[in-house]
Amino acid sequence: MTQTRKTIRFLLNDHKVELDKVAATDTLLDFLRLEQRLCGSKEGCAEGDCGACTVLVGRLAGGNLVYETVNACIRFVGSLDACHVVTIEHLRRKDGSLHPVQQAMVDMHGSQCGFCTPGIVMSLYSLWMSNPNPTNADIETSLQGNLCRCTGYEAIVRAGLAAASAGGQADDVIIRERETVTATLKGLADGARVEMGTASEKFFVPGSVDDLAELRAANPDSVIVAGATDVGLWVTKMMRPIAPAIFICHLDELHQISETATGHTIGACVTYTEFQDAVAQHFPQMAGYWNRIGGEQVRNMGTVGGNVANGSPIGDTPPVLIALGATLTLRNGDERRTLPVEEFFIDYGKQDRQAGDFVESLHIPHLAEGCEFAAYKVTKRRDEDISAVAAGFRIRVEDGKVTEAVIAYGGMAATPKRAGSVESLLVGKPWTAQTIASAEAGFAEDFSPIGDWRASAEYRALVARKLLMRFFLETTQPHENSVLVREAVA
Ligand SMILES: Cc1cc2nc3c(=O)[nH]c(=O)nc-3n(C[C@H](O)[C@H](O)[C@H](O)COP(=O)(O)OP(=O)(O)OC[C@H]3O[C@@H](n4cnc5c(N)ncnc54)[C@H](O)[C@@H]3O)c2cc1C
Ligand code: FES
Ligand code: FES
Repeated sequence: MTQTRKTIRFLLNDHKVELDKVAATDTLLDFLRLEQRLCGSKEGCAEGDCGACTVLVGRLAGGNLVYETVNACIRFVGSLDACHVVTIEHLRRKDGSLHPVQQAMVDMHGSQCGFCTPGIVMSLYSLWMSNPNPTNADIETSLQGNLCRCTGYEAIVRAGLAAASAGGQADDVIIRERETVTATLKGLADGARVEMGTASEKFFVPGSVDDLAELRAANPDSVIVAGATDVGLWVTKMMRPIAPAIFICHLDELHQISETATGHTIGACVTYTEFQDAVAQHFPQMAGYWNRIGGEQVRNMGTVGGNVANGSPIGDTPPVLIALGATLTLRNGDERRTLPVEEFFIDYGKQDRQAGDFVESLHIPHLAEGCEFAAYKVTKRRDEDISAVAAGFRIRVEDGKVTEAVIAYGGMAATPKRAGSVESLLVGKPWTAQTIASAEAGFAEDFSPIGDWRASAEYRALVARKLLMRFFLETTQPHENSVLVREAVA
């Protein structure tokens, strides 16, 4: 029998917090600004886009303390049990002097109106801790999720470089107190189930995956909240209630990644960042694609399981997972069911799941010998933009002929979808430009894309065809500028 607790406990900067009144929809940013009067973290967009609210959250991952930047505006307080929240206020040194990252921002004139500055400092601070010698590209990646409308970024990048050489790691409060904080968080992570609030405020924090299965079966209408990079916006933008919510991102078992002879099995809560570190490196063709999902804060919070479970036609992982032949394991109580990812998507807003189901894991097969694979994302803006069209392609060519083709798109239909007619026009034919040109006829049978603010229907249809041609050209005429890192910006 799992023990039940009625409080949420975490570390906030240098002190322990225990809360007995939290609603499912309470955000960390509101808690910081309105209840704690820690107003350094700003509210710009309240939807994870601008980074003005960036804070660090430390969590135990396999017993190790990991700090990551997150967007406090879409992070729920209920998901913070046994975490360490670090805000901009914690950076100042004991003697009142500025942290090297803050000082570098001053010295390099990295701040003008200052609204974005605390968030930018937190992102640079995270980089400064993990990568003492960043390149310009590292700094730019760390700032993908931080918008500044004043500076033009150049001064901020200079500050990032200057902070690196300023040193001071030995004096840094987080680095210095790592062992104490780890021990405190281990003490807080007691494996108890947290159950709080009533009616529209109710939420659960399961003590284990088995406890999640039990809670979900007993509350089939509950909203599962993993990274909250979708659900957070339901609350802040749509004012939607989410109770009873079940917060799951703390469950270590769901963050596991294991490699077997057949491929990688990843837990449903593996974040984009964790996936990138452990799995995406096996698919170098995906490196550029992966870096264009959200910004760092979103990649640190958002999960691959959530991206699939959400069922969005424009999620970036489904076309890639479908192309790679990935499967999904759904759990309901003690029962499990495994199905190909493509079969999960039935129609717009409708997935193949029963009441009480939740996504437990995904399996991504290794790329078989002789297969070519690529992933493409076409957006209006390079960074932190949702795809107009996303594509995952995998083909096998033997003796000059296509023996296998999986062509999957996002943004082209009501669900992520394979181009079945195009595929059948490719298989058995020589892998030539002529075959690609003939196969284009299949697109009209496979897709009737819609037009919206991201792209017109005609543009989507054109891009889908051209991406297939690009895949062909890049597999047959490798060029130094067409390495299998696929990036396309509309
Ligand atoms: C600023 C910003 C930028 C973004 N950029 C991109 C982008 O470039 N590409 C992209 O594809 N997406 C993007 N997203 C969307 C989002 O990051 C993804 O959809 C994300 O993967 C969702 O995962 P999550 O863990 O945050 O899900 P949550 O928000 O926690 O949940 C999403 C949905 O999945 C359900 N769910 C979650 N986990 C499970 C589970 N284990 N079992 C059953 N149901 C579950 C939830 O109930 C909910 O319906 C962006 C979001 C933001 C805020
Ligand atoms: S306020 Fe814009 S990302 Fe949080
Ligand atoms: S300094 Fe004004 S938004 Fe960045």
